[in-house]
Amino acid sequence: MRGLLDQIKNALVYDADKEFYAKLFPDSVPRIDLLRMRKMNESDLPEVLAIERQNYPFPWEQDIFTDCFKAGYSCWVCEEEDKVLGYCLMSIAVGEAHVLNISVDPAEQKQGIGRKMLEHLLSVAKGRAETVFLEVRPSNPRALTLYQNMGFNEIGIRKDYYPAENGREDAIMLAMQLF
Ligand SMILES: CC(C)(COP(=O)(O)OP(=O)(O)OC[C@H]1O[C@@H](n2cnc3c(N)ncnc32)[C@H](O)[C@@H]1OP(=O)(O)O)[C@@H](O)C(=O)NCCC(=O)NCCS
Repeated sequence: MRGLLDQIKNALVYDADKEFYAKLFPDSVPRIDLLRMRKMNESDLPEVLAIERQNYPFPWEQDIFTDCFKAGYSCWVCEEEDKVLGYCLMSIAVGEAHVLNISVDPAEQKQGIGRKMLEHLLSVAKGRAETVFLEVRPSNPRALTLYQNMGFNEIGIRKDYYPAENGREDAIMLAMQLF
């Protein structure tokens, strides 16, 4: 029984009190606080892939997501009721966490969802990793701003890391120390 309760808690992260108050007083709770982080599963992939294909010129295909599930990576969707608004994936091993993908439906960007998902990943990594790493294209100022505002520091450049329209693009490598 205890195991089952832990599994439910682990799969669904939200504040039930907030939902209760939101029903009674709809204007009292900001929308961002009502969005739920939930573990991603195979049935989310059609929605996830639709967002992925809109957001990236070189999107991940379905097999990369299923490989992440198989590897036991931390894979999450951010949803409003039953609609997926964004998703994020992170690996954790030997004290290092790597944010592999973080992506918000273009129609839902600039409303704090990216920040909410990253905060969630950091809370998952706390206690399990000492450092969180991620890479970003220099041509992606929005993502870079988000990461820097949240306390990530630039630690280097990976030359020709990403495929690009005209050849390859470097990656800016960022890291955050967790205490
Ligand atoms: C990057 C991404 C995940 C950010 O998600 P988002 O929900 O739009 O971001 P948020 O609304 O949480 O904003 C996060 C920060 O970005 C900043 N920001 C928002 N729009 C911006 C813009 N047009 N230019 C620069 N900074 C911007 C905000 O100031 C905010 O910082 P703050 O919280 O300290 O105020 C989202 O834009 C996305 O999915 N992009 C396409 C996929 C992608 O590039 N993923 C990252 C790969 S490394």
